[in-house]
Amino acid sequence: MANDEKYQIIRKLDAGGMAEVYEGVAQGIQGFKKKIAIKRVLPHLVENEKFIAMFLDEARISLHLSHANIVQVFDIGKAGGTYFIVMEYVEGLNLKNILNYLKENKRVLPIEQSIFIAIEMCRGLSYAHSLRNNEGEKLNIVHRDVSPPNVLISKQGEVKIVDFGLAKANSQLEATAPGVVKGKYAYLCPQSATGTPVDLRMDVFGCGIVLYEMLTGKRLFLGKNDLETIENVRAANIPYLPEINSDVTPDLDSILRKALAKEPENRFQTCDALAESLAGYLFSHRLKVTSFDLQRFVQSILNNSDEKKKRTSFIDDFIKEELSVFTSIGRDNNWSESLLEEGAKSAIISHPEIVWSNRGENDSQPVNLEHMLEGNSGEIRTSFQQKDQDSNDFRKNFILGLMLAIGSIGIIFAAAWFLNLI
Ligand SMILES: Nc1ncnc2c1ncn2[C@@H]1O[C@H](COP(=O)(O)OP(=O)(O)OP(=O)(O)O)[C@@H](O)[C@H]1O
Ligand SMILES: [Mg+2]
Repeated sequence: MANDEKYQIIRKLDAGGMAEVYEGVAQGIQGFKKKIAIKRVLPHLVENEKFIAMFLDEARISLHLSHANIVQVFDIGKAGGTYFIVMEYVEGLNLKNILNYLKENKRVLPIEQSIFIAIEMCRGLSYAHSLRNNEGEKLNIVHRDVSPPNVLISKQGEVKIVDFGLAKANSQLEATAPGVVKGKYAYLCPQSATGTPVDLRMDVFGCGIVLYEMLTGKRLFLGKNDLETIENVRAANIPYLPEINSDVTPDLDSILRKALAKEPENRFQTCDALAESLAGYLFSHRLKVTSFDLQRFVQSILNNSDEKKKRTSFIDDFIKEELSVFTSIGRDNNWSESLLEEGAKSAIISHPEIVWSNRGENDSQPVNLEHMLEGNSGEIRTSFQQKDQDSNDFRKNFILGLMLAIGSIGIIFAAAWFLNLI
């Protein structure tokens, strides 16, 4: 069965540096349907053979990983001249979303939940680190990009690592190009930032950075520019945590400091060891935490943002209504009708994260993957451009109207004042 018959795109979820992620549906025999996520390589990167080789290596390695704390990869495919990975769809939020939300609300994640997330991350990573092939040889998988956007938290409170995209395993068929720094700079470890080969202890360091960010609500190494960030990583200076968050005790600070030791020899040697230490901390401080706590927490964020979306779309609708009244005055009716029509069309794409291809005959139907991928990222952009154009027109008209109104009021006042004087 061709790939395009098996998978349908529902909506765009997000985009990263090298790919776009979509929510989709996998269709099996006899009407069986399953929600999936599809990550497709940005079309312009397809020409980069080295990159594609790396991407396919990632996908092949990911196919071997099967663990509750790792996003399961089901399939790899090619359509519309670009490659894609089909994986388990995690309904929820990524950790970056959560940290941003907390920052906006001037809160930090509760200590026990931060520790719980870190332990779950360690479980997934530890499984991957110790994976062996059929011959019993260690695959030496290292994630190399343990960072908040790659940690997904489901609505059920599960923690899942995604994107073993920068993983480097013995089974990789293509050698990595020398000098290519893979991974986000602020989440490198001092060794990768100096070009020294890395091992699984890079992921121990990555967990340390993520835990630091959860406990403090602050970025650890991010500098003003890439150079400064890399220098910060190389120096690996870790601020004393209890001074930033008074709920962090000195013994938790010591655990974190060991995860973030500059020299790999001084770090926890495995993710298991880090997880053990964190579990010991929870036990000795009589802290209870389960995935139910995380479930409630994620749910509350989702409910709040749903509320916010509803409020924003209410205001959007109100403004659109006002605009249609305003633009119909003194204008030709066809023009305002066409504006209203456009408004109705753009309502479908009024949430920037929801993008429907207009190529589909019926906009409310999911779009066939082959159609979506047929070099039509331009089409997606067109949808956004249309939306930008609409909002620009709206802004222009709104400002013009406001100026006219202020001008008219001014003239009336001036006339009254003038008449009084006479
Ligand atoms: N399987 C999935 N289920 C649900 N959402 C997902 C899934 N995979 C990825 N996402 C969402 O898509 C986002 C973008 O993923 P992507 O890996 O392309 O970018 P990134 O992690 O932000 O950056 P990078 O390109 O450096 O990895 C993720 O942060 C996550 O929110
Ligand atoms: Mg990612």
